[in-house]
Amino acid sequence: MRQKRILVTGGAGFLGSHLCENLLTFGYDVICLDNFFTGNKQNIYHLLDKSNFELLRHDVTLPIYLEVDEIFNLACPASPIFYQLDPIQTTKVNVLGAINMLGLAKRVKAKILQASTSEVYGDPEEHPQKETYWGRVNPIGPRSCYDEAKRFGEAAVGTNKGIDRFTKNMLFDEKIGGTIHMAIGMSIPETGGKNESAVHWDMLADMSDGGEIYADGELIYENAEFII
Ligand SMILES: NC(=O)c1ccc[n+]([C@@H]2O[C@H](COP(=O)([O-])OP(=O)(O)OC[C@H]3O[C@@H](n4cnc5c(N)ncnc54)[C@H](O)[C@@H]3O)[C@@H](O)[C@H]2O)c1
Repeated sequence: MRQKRILVTGGAGFLGSHLCENLLTFGYDVICLDNFFTGNKQNIYHLLDKSNFELLRHDVTLPIYLEVDEIFNLACPASPIFYQLDPIQTTKVNVLGAINMLGLAKRVKAKILQASTSEVYGDPEEHPQKETYWGRVNPIGPRSCYDEAKRFGEAAVGTNKGIDRFTKNMLFDEKIGGTIHMAIGMSIPETGGKNESAVHWDMLADMSDGGEIYADGELIYENAEFII
C-alpha cells in the first residue's frame, strides 16, 4: 500500500518545518510548499535529500493542483512584524490561501487542517476563550489584516458543510460538503473497466443521507464521512 502524501503549506516556517520533519519520520510522503516570505531554506535543508520529501516554491494565494491525501495549511507569516509589512498580502494569504486549499481538498478528497490563531478573538472580554465565544475584533486595527483574515479562514472552513442548496452549476455545486464528484467516461483499459463511452459526464451525488462507497468490498465512506 502506498504511503499517504501530505502537503504542508508554509512548510519552511517555524511550525511547518518541524511538522515536515515529524511526518517524514513516520514514513509519509511530504510536499513542502512555501514562498519563503518568512520561511527559510535552512529550516528544511536537512530534509532535501530525503526521497519522500519534495519542496515546491509557490504562493498559496494562487491555485495549485496536487494529488495529496492530507493538507496542513500553515502558510502565513505568524509574527506581527512580518504580517504587518504587507497587510493586503496577509489578508490574501488567509482568505485566498484558505479558499485555494479548501478547493484542492474538495477536489482530491483530502483531509485538511487550517492553522488559525487565538487572535481571531481580537481583544477578548473573557479568558480563556471558549469555542462558543465570538470575539471582539477591531476591523481596522493594526492587527486586523491577520485576525480578520484568519476569522474568514474559519468561516470558509466552518460553513463548507453547511452549504446544501444545489444550483445545478457544477462549478458551485462541487464545493458543497458531503457530495461526491465523478467524471464518467471511457474506462481506462488497464483498470478492467468496460465503459466505452466517448462522452464525459460530470456527476455530483449528495452522500449525506445514506450514501455509501465501497473499495475492495470494504465500506470506506458512509453518510458523507470517510470511516477509515
Ligand atoms: N507560531 C505561533 O505561535 C502561532 C500561533 C498561532 C497561529 N499560528 C499559525 O501557524 C501557522 C504557522 O506559523 P509559524 O509560526 O510557523 O509562522 P512562520 O512565519 O515561521 O511560517 C509561515 C510560513 O508560511 C510561508 N508563507 C507565508 N506566506 C506564504 C504564501 N503566500 N504562500 C506560501 N507560503 C507562505 C512563510 O514563508 C513561512 O515559511 C501560521 O498560519 C500562523 O498564523 C502560529
